[in-house]
Amino acid sequence: MRKTIIAGNWKMNKTPSETTDFIKALIPLVDGARCEVVLGVPFVCLQNAVEAVKGTAVKISAQNIHFEENGAYTGEISAKMLCDIGVEYVIIGHSERRQYFAETDVTVNKKVLKALENGLKPIICVGEHLSQREQGITEEIVSMQTKVALCGVSVDDMKNVVIAYEPVWAIGTGKTATSDQADEVCGIIRRVVADMYGNDVADGLTIQYGGSMNAKNAAELLLKDNVDGGLIGGASLKTEDFSIIVHAAE
Ligand code: PGA
Repeated sequence: MRKTIIAGNWKMNKTPSETTDFIKALIPLVDGARCEVVLGVPFVCLQNAVEAVKGTAVKISAQNIHFEENGAYTGEISAKMLCDIGVEYVIIGHSERRQYFAETDVTVNKKVLKALENGLKPIICVGEHLSQREQGITEEIVSMQTKVALCGVSVDDMKNVVIAYEPVWAIGTGKTATSDQADEVCGIIRRVVADMYGNDVADGLTIQYGGSMNAKNAAELLLKDNVDGGLIGGASLKTEDFSIIVHAAE
């Protein structure tokens, strides 16, 4: 059985003090959840978040890292720094980072390798643009992103990898992929991983869907065989909506 993971991606929202308050309110709502609950918070909120989840099963994620260990990279944050404060996950290659910060499949791969080397679990985002879906090349795009992101990742390290299928046209737009579309592409990703690592690794891999997942549509998406959780943006900013999604995953 693979792990179901419901992860919030707060993006550039909430201050450190709001983070503490949010988590205090969220904990009783998700206590005892049978899926893994992860909160992806801004860098400056990480320390408060780690503190606030102590003694609970909730895990904390960053939203980016640099691909080098340390050095002259003004403004950047390393995997090692995040591990040192107790962060467990990191979102890598989100489409907003690809779009606004020139992230490529190659830098995504470097970041994935650096995260794993430091014991951080990467949540690797892949997904097609609307024009690519309309051209009928979703499979090619998502397969290539997956293969390049995983280049050089060992079979052993695959235990710590999560992939999130996030069609770019569904992010923040209110347009959700249908549950069949989500299941189909998550299945394509699983086959790519099976070709690279074998069926056991592919069967054990958590593949999330992300893109306008909310309290209303989560249950239907999460029922699908190949959808093992969600990466949730907008709906992760409200404790009630987010906890409904967590319980839908059960
Ligand atoms: P959304 O964002 O749920 O607001 O569409 C998802 C994401 O970007 O991870």
